Amino acid sequence: MIRLAAVVLDDDEISELQGVFASNPDYWRLSGDLEPGAVTLEAVRDMVRAEAGVEGHEVLTARDGNGALVGYVELLLNHPRDGYPWIGFLLVHGEHRRKGLGRAIAGAVEARLRGCGATAIGLGVLENNPEALAFWTALGCVELDRRPDVAKGRPTIVMRKALGSDVGG
Ligand SMILES: CC(C)(COP(=O)(O)OP(=O)(O)OC[C@H]1O[C@@H](n2cnc3c(N)ncnc32)[C@H](O)[C@@H]1OP(=O)(O)O)[C@@H](O)C(=O)NCCC(=O)NCCS
Repeated sequence: MIRLAAVVLDDDEISELQGVFASNPDYWRLSGDLEPGAVTLEAVRDMVRAEAGVEGHEVLTARDGNGALVGYVELLLNHPRDGYPWIGFLLVHGEHRRKGLGRAIAGAVEARLRGCGATAIGLGVLENNPEALAFWTALGCVELDRRPDVAKGRPTIVMRKALGSDVGG
């Protein structure tokens, strides 16, 4: 059972988010978005706050049945290129990989977007992140295109998933 909620960014939540961010040094190494050895409270607060402040973006925490913060999600509600909502980023706590959390969080996101009338979702996977490509492929996403990402020009695989009536992959 996963509960999604808009970020609050009080001290407790920032501290929980830092735990999730700091447990993923490999991702920061490949994306270059944060310095893997310097995932401080301040760096996390700045990054999340900047994302949450963008018009048309939604930034969510994902909590498990015990209330523990196990994941982080960034959404772009209406991509200017295709009009679909995009999952900009999904991060699962690094100590809890391959336990189905990513699948459960993505399923909750899909249900939320389907509830808003979305018929498909888009996302981009960095070409140097084969594990994420395997994950999204397992969830039923298909490759549409390859192009540099808007943020930093990194080689990216553009994927899409049609949203049927069932939750999850
Ligand atoms: C990618 C990520 C979200 C996956 O989360 P997760 O909780 O470990 O994934 P799940 O346990 O739900 O995996 C579901 C399925 O995806 C596939 N999968 C997930 N991780 C995989 C990996 N490292 N290698 C190959 N397949 C993988 C498997 O088919 C898996 O099912 P299985 O475990 O029954 O074989 C997580 O590894 C993560 O946060 N990575 C760092 C950030 C990132 O790369 N985010 C995506 C960029 S948008």
